[in-house]
Amino acid sequence: MGIRKVLTDGDETLRKKSRKVEKIDDRTITLLDDMSETMYAENGVGLAAPQVGVLRRVIVMDIGEGLLELINPKIISKKGAQIKAEGCLSVPDVFGEVKRPDSVVVSAMDRKGKKIRIEGSGLLAVCLCHEIDHLDGILFTDKVIKYIEPDTDKI
Ligand code: NI
Repeated sequence: MGIRKVLTDGDETLRKKSRKVEKIDDRTITLLDDMSETMYAENGVGLAAPQVGVLRRVIVMDIGEGLLELINPKIISKKGAQIKAEGCLSVPDVFGEVKRPDSVVVSAMDRKGKKIRIEGSGLLAVCLCHEIDHLDGILFTDKVIKYIEPDTDKI
């Protein structure tokens, strides 16, 4: 497979709710591999499966601290608030400030089906919230409080 096409705003798939992964099979592993390859090729810091047209609860991200692959991610707690600039590979050339929790705890599975728990603050919390929103058909533009000039990393 390899690099997949990233859907852009206006495509109905981006507005649909993704379903849980019930069983991690070869297709799931290929999806994960393709998603990270696509994310790096597009210089994004995160990518959710619906962005490549697959309505499954799978996200990948790398905020510069290594690749994170999360299957069925769920926010189990959040704390505080922060306002940071965001962008999105599915909404090219649009950037805006969004209010997110300052820190979150997320439960998920890794590619081996092992339960994992991620505690993220700052950019990692933003990225986790942004990508998990994609799984529910929500785009960051739904939450923008102020649009800004394009000079930000794409999430
Ligand atoms: Ni996005």
